[in-house]
Amino acid sequence: MKAGDDIFLMWPGKEADFPIPKAAKDKTKDLIYPCILTERTLFTPEITERKVSPAPTNRCFLGDNLEFMQQLITEGYENALDLIYIDPPYMSSATYHAKTVIESKNNKQFISRLAFSDVWNNDIKNYLTHIFPRLQMMHRLLKENGSIFVHLDWHISHYVKILLDEIFSPEAFINEIVWCYSGGSGAGRHFQRKHDVILWYAKGPGYIFHPQYRPYSEGTKQRGLTRVKGDKYRLHEKGANLQDWWTDINKILSPTARENLKFPTQKPVDLIKRIIVSASDPGSLVADFYAGSGTTAAACTELDRQWICCDASPLAVNTTVCRLSQMKNQPFIMETDNDYITQSSAKVKIEAVKTQASDNKTDLSIQIKEFTPLQENIASNSPAAFIHFWEVDLNHNGVNFCSDVQILRNSTKYDDSLCLDIMVRIPAREQLTIAVRIHDLWGNITTRKLEISS
Ligand SMILES: C[S@@+](CC[C@H](N)C(=O)[O-])C[C@H]1O[C@@H](n2cnc3c(N)ncnc32)[C@H](O)[C@@H]1O
Repeated sequence: MKAGDDIFLMWPGKEADFPIPKAAKDKTKDLIYPCILTERTLFTPEITERKVSPAPTNRCFLGDNLEFMQQLITEGYENALDLIYIDPPYMSSATYHAKTVIESKNNKQFISRLAFSDVWNNDIKNYLTHIFPRLQMMHRLLKENGSIFVHLDWHISHYVKILLDEIFSPEAFINEIVWCYSGGSGAGRHFQRKHDVILWYAKGPGYIFHPQYRPYSEGTKQRGLTRVKGDKYRLHEKGANLQDWWTDINKILSPTARENLKFPTQKPVDLIKRIIVSASDPGSLVADFYAGSGTTAAACTELDRQWICCDASPLAVNTTVCRLSQMKNQPFIMETDNDYITQSSAKVKIEAVKTQASDNKTDLSIQIKEFTPLQENIASNSPAAFIHFWEVDLNHNGVNFCSDVQILRNSTKYDDSLCLDIMVRIPAREQLTIAVRIHDLWGNITTRKLEISS
C-alpha cells in the first residue's frame, strides 16, 4: 500500500514543531550494584572497585519520558537505539492501583497505591498531544536499522497507527501483532475483548528480523506437508513460521505467580522476550520509555541486551529496581528527576555501629530501629511493614548514592519479615561515612547519612 504524504490525523493542539522541554534541572544520579540481602548474615560486598568509568550503559530514569529522551539526544543518543518497545497508557479512562495488604500480628490493612493514571480528562486530544511528540522523539533515537514495537489495545490503536504512519511512513509498517489472552471478564453487549495489538515499525529497510517458530500441530506432524504441497516441501525442523497472532503466552493472571510483581498492567516477560529476540541481536541497546515494572529491562538482562528504561511513577521505578537487583544484573545508573519523588516525612531512627575492626577490615551492624510514615493513616507493630526495600551505600561520597547492597523481602507480603538489621564486612577506613536509603510502600524515599566513629 502506498498512502499519500497528505494523509494526517489533525486535532486542535497538534503542534507541527512541538515544544521540546528542557531536560530536568534538579536531577540526581545514583549507581546501583545489584547485590541483595534478605537476612542478617555477615556479608562482604564487592565494593573495592566501583566501575564508574566507563559508566554502566544500563540506565533507569524516574521522570517524564519526553524530558528523558531530550536528555538522551543531547547526550548523543540520536540514531543510537536498536530497538524500542513501549506499552504506554491506552486511553482506557482508568486509574491503576497497586493493592497491598499490610499484615501484622493482630490485624490486616488493605492499602491501594496509585501506580499511574490513564484518564486524560476523557479527551482523546489530550492523549494524542501526549503521545505524538514522544513517538517523534523515539523515531530520532532509533538507528537506521532499528525498530519500534508499540503495544496498545482497541481504545486508541487505530489513532496511533495513523500517527506512526506519519512519523515513520506507511512503508515502514511491518506487522500488526495480535496478542490474544484469556481471563475472566464481566458481561457486556459486545464480544469479550481479549487481545492487544502491537504495531511494529522499522526505521529503515535494513531492519533486523530473526524469524520465530511454533510447533507443528499433531495432525501436520503425522501427515507432513507433502500431501498438500508436493514432495519438494519438508517440515522445518524448528517448526512452522510464527504468525502475527500469538495465543501461546497468557496474561499474568494468578496473584501467586512468581512473575507477578503486583504492578497493574505488568506484561509477561515471555512476550517481550519474543519481541527482543525477533528484532535485535545480543549486545543490542533496547529502550522502554513506559517501563512499568521493568519487564523490558528484565527481559534484556536474560537475553544479554543492554537496556535503557524510564517511568514517571515512583512505584513503577521501585518495582523495577527491586526486580533488577534480584536478577544479579550488571550495575546500572539510576537517574531521578527530583520533581517526581517525595522525600518522606517519616519518623526514622537508624543505627550503625562498628562491631569489630582489624588492620584492614571493619564489621558494621546497620539497623533500622524506627520507621513510621507520618502521612498515612495506618498502623502496624513493625516498621518493616511499611518499607518496600532499603539500600546502603557503604562508602558515601556525599553526592551520588552508590547502592552497594539492597535489602529485599523474601515474599511479596508486607509484614515484619523484611530484614531491618544487617552485618557487613568492609575494608577499614579512617573516615567512615555510609548512607541508608529507605523506599516506602508509596514510593517516597528517606535518605540518612551516618558518620561512624570507633
Ligand atoms: C501500561 S504501563 C507499562 C507496564 C509495563 N509494560 C510492565 O510490564 O510492567 C504504562 C506505564 O507508563 C508510565 N508512564 C505514563 N506516562 C509517562 C511519562 N510521561 N513518562 C514516563 N512514564 C510514563 C506509567 O507510570 C506506567 O507505569
